[in-house]
Amino acid sequence: MRVLVTGGAGYVGSVSAERLIGAGHEVTVLDSLVKGHRAAVPEGARLVIGEVGDRQLVTNTVREDGIDAVLHCAGFSLVAESMVTPEPYFDANVRDGITLLDAIHEAGVRRIVFSSSASVYGAPARVPIEEDDPLAPINTYGATKLAFEMALAAYSLAYGWGSVALRYFNVAGASESLGEDHRPETHLIPNVLRAAAGGQPVTLFGTDYPTRDGTCIRDYIHVADLAAAHLAALELTADLEPQMLACNLGTATGFSNRDVFEAAQAVVGRPIPHEWGPRRGAGDPPALVASNEKARERLGWQPRHGSLEEIIASAWRWRQAHPKGYPDGVPES
Ligand SMILES: NC(=O)c1ccc[n+]([C@@H]2O[C@H](COP(=O)([O-])OP(=O)(O)OC[C@H]3O[C@@H](n4cnc5c(N)ncnc54)[C@H](O)[C@@H]3O)[C@@H](O)[C@H]2O)c1
Repeated sequence: MRVLVTGGAGYVGSVSAERLIGAGHEVTVLDSLVKGHRAAVPEGARLVIGEVGDRQLVTNTVREDGIDAVLHCAGFSLVAESMVTPEPYFDANVRDGITLLDAIHEAGVRRIVFSSSASVYGAPARVPIEEDDPLAPINTYGATKLAFEMALAAYSLAYGWGSVALRYFNVAGASESLGEDHRPETHLIPNVLRAAAGGQPVTLFGTDYPTRDGTCIRDYIHVADLAAAHLAALELTADLEPQMLACNLGTATGFSNRDVFEAAQAVVGRPIPHEWGPRRGAGDPPALVASNEKARERLGWQPRHGSLEEIIASAWRWRQAHPKGYPDGVPES
């Protein structure tokens, strides 16, 4: 398969591109580098620097490289930022995303896998969350993810595409050579490990949630398992009915912030400087845990690196090998 990976210089896109290349596929990465890192683009991929919303560039790239399928990971994903400045979120995640759909339609590509998010469910009434549960985002980021899913579903139905929206829960961990380097970083595991490596004490938000230990519960999925699911989903798009398949990607196990913090201390082998703070805001539901029955059934996928220790240990190894992250990014704040 010849695959166009948008956002392939970012965390999820780069590890997925690496996995695709490892499985013998040809990869073209399209990334503006607005958030990504040139050094994260895996060896063997062709990098095209540009915007997903540049219709002519996308059409030309798809035609020149004979693209068979698209893995659409590009987007903005800071929840708090999306609440104060919604414009770039609607621009990048919705408007540019729809331009991408128009461009690939023009170029004749009919297979696409999309990086969606558990945020489309908002604050769920029950866990584990199933794909047919109500879609009710509680932040702008989640609203933009849902808006794009709806566009993708409509295009798939109208034009006979095979498409999959993968609703990721909390992605974490690293491959041997590629890891997580968001700037700013809002994710728990890299922030805990930054404190462990001598950074400022990490703040853990909220101890009064209605959960077993008062801290938020999340479902952590190893980025390598996510990459494997992308490969399975891309293969499946060849045989899908003309409609979008939505699949959760998680391990179906919930870990609290306190569990994560304690597991991280065990992995690094020493106390990690920290403080417990108030809740981060209204946008953090108490518990988000995936049902992954559908991914198992439809993608033939299962998580292979599901233990918290394994996920954190891989992130810690990457952090130690890259103490300042990728070389071409803005300094850590
Ligand atoms: N990391 C997670 O835990 C997580 C969870 C749920 C969903 N997601 C989704 O997965 C996707 C990838 O997440 P990530 O953590 O790898 O993010 P990331 O910021 O590391 O990567 C996103 C990449 O997209 C590029 N990009 C953004 N807008 C672009 C545009 N208009 N044109 C071209 N390139 C553009 C950025 O430069 C960056 O390299 C995002 O869509 C995100 O919403 C991530």
